[in-house]
Amino acid sequence: MSGLDDIIAAETRLSEVDGLNGRLVICGHSLDALAGQRSFESVLALLLPDVLSSSEEAVRAELAQARLRAFREVARLDTDLLSLSLTEALRALMARLPDGEDKSVALLQIAAPAAFVPALIRAKAGRKPIPPHTGRSHAADMLAMLTGDQPGEEHISALDTYLVTVSDHGLNASTFTARVVASTRAGYASAVLAALGALKGPLHGGAPGPVLDMLDAVATPDNATAWVAGEISRGERLMGFGHRIYRVRDPRADALKSALGRLSAVGGMDASRLALAEAVERAALAALRAAKPDRVLETNVEFFTALLLEALGFPRDAFTGVFAAGRVGGWVAHAHEQIQTGRLIRPQSRYVGPKAA
Ligand code: ACO
Repeated sequence: MSGLDDIIAAETRLSEVDGLNGRLVICGHSLDALAGQRSFESVLALLLPDVLSSSEEAVRAELAQARLRAFREVARLDTDLLSLSLTEALRALMARLPDGEDKSVALLQIAAPAAFVPALIRAKAGRKPIPPHTGRSHAADMLAMLTGDQPGEEHISALDTYLVTVSDHGLNASTFTARVVASTRAGYASAVLAALGALKGPLHGGAPGPVLDMLDAVATPDNATAWVAGEISRGERLMGFGHRIYRVRDPRADALKSALGRLSAVGGMDASRLALAEAVERAALAALRAAKPDRVLETNVEFFTALLLEALGFPRDAFTGVFAAGRVGGWVAHAHEQIQTGRLIRPQSRYVGPKAA
């Protein structure tokens, strides 16, 4: 490959992914200073300072109102939509929202996945969706809309940590997609919808569901080494491992593993599930090191995402949608940043076809 792979497609003040040192910086803050320390709302204020209000409380109130507005679409759920996979149903609902480049569209886009995902989970299971509540934080309300109960503090904190951890991550496939669409001046809703399509794939945001399938297949810690070896020998990819940019451990995996440790310590999750995951992680890392000695394949964010979202009660087909509820902050922020440049993204391809006669 030529240097085409290395072309810088955007300048950003939003986040820096240092793949060699395993460091993620979001708006000048290292991930470990944000995850578990700052709320999702306060990180949104960092990502979108000239779109959203500057205080955490004001963003919380704006976002709550936007959840209410988004929830109106839930009244129009129909059986055709509910027969789709959860991510496709989310995509269909998101497609109904109005487009534009103003603040109200930006807020609606940021709020909508959090309002839609719990409603879709419930409606697909034949249960009545629960409307948002303006008195709650984004993470607390997502959990309340899922279960109908007031969530415990440890669960709220775990989901908030998750949303912050995945809120932005450089020019990943979905964020690049959002920037390309925003650069055409199509509007925030079009940018987010396209980004959601990119997120859906198993090589990006579609991996955590299959991580749980893997844990179920392994079943017990002492089975991990043999199971993993079988997969590698068949040339299968182990979901939740490897990353295009990180050549060391994904720092987001550690942020989520810490959140899981805190949840487990207060009895907020099944400790044996965490022990099984740790055994699978050890076996997978050893097998990948042996099979691909020249390629560093470490645990990525999706591995512990799977455990965390499972512990919070989200079904596995909703994991990509919950990921979208966090990453949408980054998508809208990148779309906004791209719009400010006033520049269309239009890369060149390198022609390798036959020469014209
Ligand atoms: N399990 C087994 N082998 C792997 C894995 C894996 N998880 N990841 C990479 N490899 C192997 C490849 O088969 C390839 O081997 P080869 O050279 O013999 O063909 C080699 O390592 C290099 O793989 P690439 O595809 O070049 O690595 P790339 O940087 O393109 O891929 C990716 C990154 C797509 C994430 C990959 O590691 C993967 O498929 N992982 C599993 C899916 C996953 O966890 N996705 C979530 C990513 S995190 C996120 O997007 C939020």
